[in-house]
Amino acid sequence: MTKYILAPSILASDMTQLGSQIAAAESAGADWIHVDVMDGHFVPNITMGPFIVEACRRVTKFPLDVHLMIEKPEQMLEAFAKAGATGLTVHVETCPHLHRTLQHIKSLGCKAGVVLNPGTAVGAIEPVLHLADLVLVMSVNPGFGGQEFIPESLGRIAEIRKKLDALGSSAWLEVDGGVSVETIAQLKEAGTTAFVAGTSVFKHPEGIDAGVKALREYL
Ligand code: DX5
Ligand code: ZN
Repeated sequence: MTKYILAPSILASDMTQLGSQIAAAESAGADWIHVDVMDGHFVPNITMGPFIVEACRRVTKFPLDVHLMIEKPEQMLEAFAKAGATGLTVHVETCPHLHRTLQHIKSLGCKAGVVLNPGTAVGAIEPVLHLADLVLVMSVNPGFGGQEFIPESLGRIAEIRKKLDALGSSAWLEVDGGVSVETIAQLKEAGTTAFVAGTSVFKHPEGIDAGVKALREYL
């Protein structure tokens, strides 16, 4: 039976209560904690760095799924690994030496992820698919939580699912952006196995527990 991962994104959390918000997501049935790292260059927003990853590591034993929306990610890999990241996911758009960067991540003892923006051709990751522990498809343009899901993402996920299956790869196929009770069933149908959710978990009107459980029903 396929295991499906739910990865709440702390970008949508109340940062003044980070520890208890992560604990609430965990006990409600989340699997990983997603950390969105933004540098104000690759994306038009600045969020968190190794310091916050290290703080998360102190409050949870759950895998920390760290999404690097930064230029020159290769320069920061060691710092994030040291801070306690479980997986490091780099954007193909920021990595001229993607093959080397994925190997570098693995050499640090982390799971290696590669991510595509909505405007990037799926073929761009083909040469490194065999190296990836995780492939992330952005279903919004990265930079902010709470954006509207881009429906074309479904076809892109299905295309990558076929390529992973053809390779016999057991990599996670993850989606990020606009994951909600309205979109999650189709995403699962298209072959997604890991779901990032910010707004629909941390800003659920009935609380974090209700947000996780509403999504979990589909997985
Ligand atoms: C967007 C981030 C996402 C974001 C998702 O740049 O990578 O992880 O937190 O937020 P929602 O789930 O609100 O679309
Ligand atoms: Zn993300």
